[in-house]
Amino acid sequence: MTLAADPAALPAPSSERALVVGATGYVGRALVRELCARGVAVLAHGRAESPRLARLRGPFADLGAEVVTTDFDREALALLLTSRAVTHVFLCLGTTLRRSLGRGAGGRRDTYESVDLALSSLVIGAAVDSGLAPRVVLLSTAGARAASRWRYFAVRGRLEQVLMDSPLPWTIARPGHITGPDRDEWRPLERLSAMITDWTLLWLAVLGMQILRERYRPIGAGELAKALAQHGFDPHSVRKILPGERLRDFP
Ligand SMILES: NC(=O)c1ccc[n+]([C@@H]2O[C@H](COP(=O)([O-])OP(=O)(O)OC[C@H]3O[C@@H](n4cnc5c(N)ncnc54)[C@H](OP(=O)(O)O)[C@@H]3O)[C@@H](O)[C@H]2O)c1
Repeated sequence: MTLAADPAALPAPSSERALVVGATGYVGRALVRELCARGVAVLAHGRAESPRLARLRGPFADLGAEVVTTDFDREALALLLTSRAVTHVFLCLGTTLRRSLGRGAGGRRDTYESVDLALSSLVIGAAVDSGLAPRVVLLSTAGARAASRWRYFAVRGRLEQVLMDSPLPWTIARPGHITGPDRDEWRPLERLSAMITDWTLLWLAVLGMQILRERYRPIGAGELAKALAQHGFDPHSVRKILPGERLRDFP
C-alpha cells in the first residue's frame, strides 16, 4: 500500500494535532496522508483487530503518523484526547451494507446503528468529556436525514444531529458517492451506481443543472481528503454542513 506524501508540498509543522477515526478506510487513509503533508501531527486510529491495520502501520509511520488502537470506550478515548492535546477529530468510520449482512469478529454483526451511529457518537461523547472542545469534522453523506425511510440515510441524519446537539465546534461534509480506482475493496454495486449517477448528472448538467452535478457526482478519496483538511481548519466552516459542490477543487 503506497501512501507517500509529496515532500515538495510539505509546510512547516503546526501545533495542531488531529485524531483520525477510521484511519484504515479509503477516506481515512487519504486524510492521514493529507494532514501529514500539511504538517499536522496525526494520530491514526484503527481498531486493534482491523484486518487492514497491520498493512498500514509501515506506511503510516513513513508519513510521520502515530498509530493508536485505543478501545471504543468513552473514558479511554477521552483520556487519549486529553493526554495528547488533540485539537481536531475527523470521523471517517462506518460499515457497509455487505458487512452488515455478514458476521463480524467474534460472530458479532455490524450494523449502521452499531458502527456508524454508536461508535461515532461514543467518540463525540469522549471529545466532550475531554474538556478540550476539539473541532469535530464528520464525514457524512448527501441525503442524510433522520426522517429518511432509507435506513442508512436515517442513521447518518441521526448521527449528524448528535454532533450538532453537542457543545463542540463541528463541520459536516456531505459528499455523494466516494469511489475511485485506488479503492482497495471491490465494490461492484457501488461502482455501478456511481457510474449511473455520473452519467445521469452529466446529462442534467447539459440541460443546465450544473449545480446538481457538482453536488452529487462521485468524488475520489484524495480530493475529498483535501476538502476535509481544508475545511477542518477553516474557522468559517465551523457549524457548517458542506454539500458536495463545496468539497471539490482544493489544491
Ligand atoms: N462509499 C461511499 O460512496 C460513501 C458516500 C458518502 C459517505 N460515505 C461514508 O463515508 C465513510 C467512510 O467511507 P470509506 O469509503 O472510507 O469507508 P471504508 O473504506 O469502508 O472505511 C470504513 C472505516 O470504518 C472502520 N470500521 C468499519 N467497521 C468498524 C467497526 N465495527 N469497528 C471499528 N471501526 C470500523 C473501518 O475499519 P477496518 O479497516 O478495520 O474495517 C474503516 O477504518 C463511511 O462511513 C460512509 O458511510 C461513504
